[in-house]
Amino acid sequence: MKFFIDTANLDQIRDAQELGVLDGVTTNPSLMAKEGITGKNNILKHYVDICNIVDGDVSAEVIATDLEGMISEGESLSELHEQIVVKVPMIRDGVKALKYFADKGIRTNCTLVFSPGQALLAAKAGATYVSPFIGRLDDISTDGLNLISEIRHIYDNYGYETEILAASIRHTMHIIDCAKVGADVMTGPLSAIEGLLKHPLTDIGLAKFLADYKKGN
Ligand code: E4P
Repeated sequence: MKFFIDTANLDQIRDAQELGVLDGVTTNPSLMAKEGITGKNNILKHYVDICNIVDGDVSAEVIATDLEGMISEGESLSELHEQIVVKVPMIRDGVKALKYFADKGIRTNCTLVFSPGQALLAAKAGATYVSPFIGRLDDISTDGLNLISEIRHIYDNYGYETEILAASIRHTMHIIDCAKVGADVMTGPLSAIEGLLKHPLTDIGLAKFLADYKKGN
């Protein structure tokens, strides 16, 4: 399973990269705004800064919602850095844009996916990644994890190569659950990734090993 971090915070991206398990980064306009990154030029520079920290894919979202605008923005974003993956919303013109980018060899991440039908369309259009938002489904009392299972089933039926990028991960158990049902990638906050580390028996066991070592030395 690939691990992406879902943030535009450079310190957190560095921390995750230093942990040695980071495969990429996802961002969105809200995450950029949260870090105070505003204005087109600052946002573009921030994408390059992120690419210079991590080795893997960095999703950069288009703002346009019409086909022409998405194509123009997506092409500029993809030229920024070889690690950039163009993030395109699951809307009618977005599907057309996904197909256009696939034909041109530009990698994409289809975002704001909330149903198996949307995921099927994204795969048909040739998206590199599809991003089902599981936390936001859980927020409205719908089983987000079930969506990941349904998409896995559909993609496996037909051998679609689009990678299932479980997004809107909110906590550590979301990561475990997505791994169990076969998500290819998860993107979540640093806290959820670091949660994987923790177990009280590890801490107790280590303390005992160190204490016993000291007794003999
Ligand atoms: C995915 O690429 C999105 O940036 C993200 O996972 C959204 O998560 P949220 O629902 O916690 O905002």
